[in-house]
Amino acid sequence: MQKAYRASLLRFADDGTALYESDGLLVTGTDAATGRRVVEAAGSWQSLAPAYAHLPVEHLPGRILAPGFVDMHIHYPQTDVIGSPADGLLPWLENYTFPHESRFADPDYAAGVAAFFADELLRNGVTTALTFATSHPQSVDALFAEARRRGMRLITGKVLQDRNSPDGVRDRTEQGLQDTEALIRKWQGVDRLGYAITPRFAPTSTPAQLRGAGELAAQYPEVWIQSHVAENLGEIAWARELFPESRSYLATYDDFGLMRPRAVYAHCIHFDDDDRALMRDTGTVAAVSPTSNLFLGSGFFDYAGADRVGFRYGLASDVGGGTSFSPFRTMLAAYYVGREGQTKAGLSLAPGHLWWQHTAGAAAALGLAGAVGNLQPGCEADFIVLDPAATPLLARKTAQAESLDELLFAMIVLGDDRLVERAVIAG
Ligand code: GUN
Ligand code: ZN
Repeated sequence: MQKAYRASLLRFADDGTALYESDGLLVTGTDAATGRRVVEAAGSWQSLAPAYAHLPVEHLPGRILAPGFVDMHIHYPQTDVIGSPADGLLPWLENYTFPHESRFADPDYAAGVAAFFADELLRNGVTTALTFATSHPQSVDALFAEARRRGMRLITGKVLQDRNSPDGVRDRTEQGLQDTEALIRKWQGVDRLGYAITPRFAPTSTPAQLRGAGELAAQYPEVWIQSHVAENLGEIAWARELFPESRSYLATYDDFGLMRPRAVYAHCIHFDDDDRALMRDTGTVAAVSPTSNLFLGSGFFDYAGADRVGFRYGLASDVGGGTSFSPFRTMLAAYYVGREGQTKAGLSLAPGHLWWQHTAGAAAALGLAGAVGNLQPGCEADFIVLDPAATPLLARKTAQAESLDELLFAMIVLGDDRLVERAVIAG
């Protein structure tokens, strides 16, 4: 069945340029081959209306239709860890995160958090996420079940951490790998779900476990890989001590076969140009997590370095190191980081580019270009309805916008979950 929505419309050209129709039309339908709901047409109402005159139109005056946001790195079990103060990454993990994650051994507890998490993503306009679960396989089942119930495109995986981890979250080398393979076979490609092989980070896995993870990554090229790298100086020193044969912390992952397209590493802050080239040459991507990096005092992602060497990146909340589910908060933090790191206005500072990094750019980095993160014909029909007059100040400010940049910036700076009137999955 075709559906048509008339409202303002935001989408992206192939080169990342933001495209905007103040009076737009979005037509969705069912793809005959896949049975998925997809965008059939998107453009100005004036140009498209004659061809779709037979369709009833849902008219949403004053609203903006935009691609659902894509969060490239988040931890669903850390929903309740947000805002836990610590000196930095390692004490934060030990004092708050590991004890909290141990609770996900209980499938009922996991199911409750998973349901809240999925609702909270949607309330904030995030329709696709790559998320960590915990080391307990049942934590993965719990989230996939909730995502499937909502029809979401979502990727998650069981955390591998067989050393330097306390009782309650530590898994066993072989068992963790067997559980991973069983979960891949159970969930990869079911409806819109995808699996990610998930070593927590190099310091909490033995070489044997990383090697096994790399073997699975080679055996199942369609699944994702997710981990953390080069977030914090203490973490880096620890990783270098544990893997002295590798050229760098990042190179450790390459040495175990864990860098390839669909491999996503969070943070990627403290890199040299050889690391950047390794990201580029292996098709590995970075999940830039600015609210987390600011909260934990980890540092600033070097946008100029990434653009100079040419590896891909996109935005991520990294909840619960990150402080907000809202992509508007993340985009604003990314703007601050771009300001801090560069004196001249680089690409990362432009509002359209910030928005792209959290939609079409993030989707492309995940290997999902043309599937999610955009509203071009053929894309899956996940979109959000924004109310640019959701608060008195937003209403004043957006009404005065004289360009698309000004409109997008007003929403990035002033927006939060109130701006998202509704998230539509498979509309
Ligand atoms: N490095 C290893 N585990 C984690 C985690 O849960 N959060 C963050 N931010 N970094 C990590
Ligand atoms: Zn993380």
